[in-house]
Amino acid sequence: MKHLIDIRDLSVEELDFLMDTAIDIKNNPEKYSEKCKGKKLATLFFEPSTRTRLSFEAAMYELGGNVLGFSEAASSSSSKGESVADTARIVGCYADIIAMRHPKEGAPLVASAKAGIPVINAGDGGHNHPTQTLADILTIRIKKGGFDNLTVGFCGDLKYGRTVHSLIAALSRYKNVKLVLISPEELRVPKYVIKDIINGNNMEYVETADLEEAIPSLDILYMTRIQRERFDSKDSYERLKDSYVLKRSKLENAKKDLCILHPLPRVNEISVDVDDDERACYFEQALNGKYMRMALILKLLEEESLNSTQSVNEDLIYTIKCKNPRCITSVEQELPHIFRLTDKANGICRCIYCESKEKNT
Ligand code: CP
Repeated sequence: MKHLIDIRDLSVEELDFLMDTAIDIKNNPEKYSEKCKGKKLATLFFEPSTRTRLSFEAAMYELGGNVLGFSEAASSSSSKGESVADTARIVGCYADIIAMRHPKEGAPLVASAKAGIPVINAGDGGHNHPTQTLADILTIRIKKGGFDNLTVGFCGDLKYGRTVHSLIAALSRYKNVKLVLISPEELRVPKYVIKDIINGNNMEYVETADLEEAIPSLDILYMTRIQRERFDSKDSYERLKDSYVLKRSKLENAKKDLCILHPLPRVNEISVDVDDDERACYFEQALNGKYMRMALILKLLEEESLNSTQSVNEDLIYTIKCKNPRCITSVEQELPHIFRLTDKANGICRCIYCESKEKNT
């Protein structure tokens, strides 16, 4: 692991190691308080954030390191037209590790190729959010003791909810995890997630629009916000924004040990009357994010000092153009369009940045 771009960059053993380290940090913070002395984290946030950016910054300070960066694209030279690749190359001269959030899918992957230092994806458009997944899985492990045989409900915007895609990918590593995907028709999990991750790992799943019917079967309920900033049409957002509101009264038939998660921010999809229910774990989940980010920074800096490299052994294709308007290649014209051959028999390829599908003819 040289960078963390996709949760699938981490093996189950590495996930276990990060969770064990995070728990040790939580219990023995003084042991870690100088581990990153003299090191600098750059937080490059081209999109708004409260939890992710501030927990990364708190994480680095609590490890004895320092932080530099920006919290909006407007205060960086990207507002003058500087590319992600050039930004990453420059920041690589000033910092030891980067956490990047960007509205375009694949931007952190571009940065990782140019920075010369470890890059962490802190959210790329509607695509992935692997460090949120680290917070999610630590919370599930603490509450449930493990992952095998859990029934996990995801509710809300499963199309644009990048945290959903990353958490499904992490859960696909464990035995007999069942998914209940609760969303309006228009906001279902993208087809590539169903095909490559859910079907690709023989996960059992159902899709439904009915939250109340699903609740009694769930061990975990992962609520999500309808992602206003990803919609092309304001009307569609207005129509869908109140699709689900979890109220305390709806938990009457839920399991007594249900664990309710939400990556936050919430808008109104979890009523505040749920906050005092002992099954509400979303604030603890946000705190766990800081410990997991501490563990991740330590691991990446340690591996960097050992000069490890990430192996690339896929079949790459350079002759196809990505048509996804949300892909980083749609705005950075000089980037090579690169596809990975994922289904050799049918010639199916995926863009390495955003995972859009094309056929190699
Ligand atoms: N969960 C999450 O990514 O929150 P922020 O957008 O506040 O970072």
